[in-house]
Amino acid sequence: MKDAKSVPVHVAIIMDGNGRWAQKRGLPRTEGHRAGVKTVKKIVKTASDNGIKYLTLYAFSTENWKRSKEEVNFLLNLFAEVLKDYLNELRDNNVKLKFIGDIQGLPYFLRKVLEYSENATKKDTGLVLNIAINYGGRREIVQAVKRICREKIRDINEENFSDYLYTAGQPDPDIIIRTSGEMRLSNFLLYQSSYSELFFTDTLWPDFTEEEFLKIIEEFGKRKRKFGGV
Ligand code: IPE
Ligand code: IPE
Ligand code: MG
Repeated sequence: MKDAKSVPVHVAIIMDGNGRWAQKRGLPRTEGHRAGVKTVKKIVKTASDNGIKYLTLYAFSTENWKRSKEEVNFLLNLFAEVLKDYLNELRDNNVKLKFIGDIQGLPYFLRKVLEYSENATKKDTGLVLNIAINYGGRREIVQAVKRICREKIRDINEENFSDYLYTAGQPDPDIIIRTSGEMRLSNFLLYQSSYSELFFTDTLWPDFTEEEFLKIIEEFGKRKRKFGGV
């Protein structure tokens, strides 16, 4: 990238609009999710090639169980299938995988795949790719509080509270991007997003390109972050 100063350390993305992308083409919603996977692969490569250290992708929320059984099952199977055939490419690119969310609440077959892929990439030193599956910001905070109570930890402050979140040890996202024109966080990274720069685009996730991604990164470089100062 031209101006190394402006490269964000952590980028998080709410990958939205797969269903509408399919609907527009008269296809079942599931085809939108398949098309979305292609965008994921492109964006992971772009992030990795451009020196971004952390990329967090919102794949399935704690609220997404409200969808039809067919769609939910399709998504859970798709995650397992894609991870299996994508793993070698991730390793070739030195990408370290981490799954964030209420993983215990996922079916056994998927948990096994997540565990295996996380393990297989644990020594990788390149991009850290967080995939948020069965993720909810509120659940994450509640789980952190429960653990703090259980372990009877007394000296809790704003910094070390982060150590009890799924993203422990990682910097907060510099940028949060949401595709598909919706302007909300939908329970994503509620604690971590307090000073994130927000970017919204009307582009549906399957249509999101490397060019648009890089344009957002460039735009980020022009924003003046103040963190409450002057
Ligand atoms: C985002 O696309 C993917 C997931 C939430 C799994 P959607 O499926 O929400 O697509 P729209 O919002 O219905 O278009
Ligand atoms: C947010 O998208 C969750 C993911 C992208 C995984 P949703 O499509 O579920 O969000 P809402 O329902 O429009 O707020
Ligand atoms: Mg949506």
